[in-house]
Amino acid sequence: MASTLNDVRVRLEQHGQEHVLRFWNDLNKTERQALLRDIEAIDFALMERLIREWVVSEPAQETFKNICPVPVIPKAELNRPDAKEAWDAGEQALRDGRVGLFLVAGGQGTRLGFEGPKGAYPIGPISQRSLFAFHAEKIHNLQRRYACTIPWYIMVSDTNDDATQSFFRENDFFGLQQNDVKFFRQRMVPCVSEQGKFLLDEPGRLAMNPNGHGGCIPAMVENLVTKDARDRGVDTLSYFQVDNWAVKVADPFFIGYHVLRNAEMSSKSHRKSMPREAVGVHCLCDGEYRVIEYSELDIYPQLLKVDDDGNVVCFAGNPAIHVLSVDFVDRIYRQYDTFPWHRAHKKIPYINDKGDLVQPQRPNGYKFETFVFDALRFTTHEPVALEIEPPGEYTPIKQFNGDNSVVAAWESMNRYWAEWLEAMGWPVPRNARGDVAIKIEISPQFALSKEEFVERSAGCLWPASHDVGIGPNGEWLTPVE
Ligand code: UD1
Repeated sequence: MASTLNDVRVRLEQHGQEHVLRFWNDLNKTERQALLRDIEAIDFALMERLIREWVVSEPAQETFKNICPVPVIPKAELNRPDAKEAWDAGEQALRDGRVGLFLVAGGQGTRLGFEGPKGAYPIGPISQRSLFAFHAEKIHNLQRRYACTIPWYIMVSDTNDDATQSFFRENDFFGLQQNDVKFFRQRMVPCVSEQGKFLLDEPGRLAMNPNGHGGCIPAMVENLVTKDARDRGVDTLSYFQVDNWAVKVADPFFIGYHVLRNAEMSSKSHRKSMPREAVGVHCLCDGEYRVIEYSELDIYPQLLKVDDDGNVVCFAGNPAIHVLSVDFVDRIYRQYDTFPWHRAHKKIPYINDKGDLVQPQRPNGYKFETFVFDALRFTTHEPVALEIEPPGEYTPIKQFNGDNSVVAAWESMNRYWAEWLEAMGWPVPRNARGDVAIKIEISPQFALSKEEFVERSAGCLWPASHDVGIGPNGEWLTPVE
């Protein structure tokens, strides 16, 4: 270890970061080994560049002469010939076993204030089943319908890998074949102070953050995810975020448009309801496809414009639902070094010189990330942008209350599912304002659409006037307190 320590010390000194060893003498053997491992994994050349460009100086802002909305395919309806053709192609790709699911779940989920991986959040309003369980039930449904196997690739990070895998084991992989669920880790990046110094969050541990969902590109290739996909005959990956409870995974319309147009990467988008809605925006910046993040809206005032009717001009919000071709992932892996990095000014807990943990009251340092949607600028075929309406497709859970919250998601899905019950002729109780007055929960394993629900519920009688929960196999759910 002595020589390793020396090597590491020299390397740290070359980059002005030797202070991270200042508690070395107080560390036990395990802590020392872990610290050395973390330091050895750092890409110092990259960190030096990020600190030089983003901390020591401010990078020049990109400017664009023209920012306009991306052309979108209107919401797909089966009675439109192009959409019918897409649906058929998407279903065929599923039947042929060409589709895999790709979930990014490596984030830290700090805003929700939930201990544990975000996917373990008990979102089911009646059953308290987790987000992971709901996503798994969607896979069961699709595998049943298309008589196929859909591998599920899940990106985790050092912050939640063990807890996520334990959660899957405790839940018996939600009834999926263990071999079809593959976890892989993204890399971590050191957080830095406003002076460009690495921070410790324990005397023997660097403060690090996962390298952003753009980190999925190297992580997929280096962890042989793209190889596994190829070996299975999978060439198309349906990408989604763990916090979107409603997301339609492997939606045949979306897969179909992607396949028929030979796209490399495709995205869904929804119409922004207000200029400052907290979503990225799909737009063409001087002709190049970009997603501009909501945190950067003030840099590009064009994105805040509304037309005479009050509609946002650059309307295409980013619900973070994509399709990626396996070939494309392998190709852009070789260009990953040229991906842009993004900086976030954050409150980062750190160990001070006395060895005490400080919880800062204001942002005191930076986290760096790459974003998967920056891959769109590397496409050589025009990306597909398919419009969706949020109900039943986009209910992101960023916090408990307010916009993009657990409560908002429950309300949205309650309204959405109430229409399914009413399509059965069942009398859903509503209050004087017309709001649904009961809780509803329908497992996506039982039905993924109103049509499927009506078909599978034929002959069932209205259960009661109180909460209605329907489980994966059509069983009535009893509330879990
Ligand atoms: C994200 C998008 C935003 C979009 C919104 C839709 C970014 C930068 N922006 O915002 O354009 O409109 O979702 O809900 O993502 N994750 C990882 N590894 C990481 C970081 C994140 O796997 O290193 C995963 C998270 O687990 C989560 C997803 O990426 O599933 C999104 O992360 P989050 O921090 O929630 O993004 P938002 O800022 O909400």
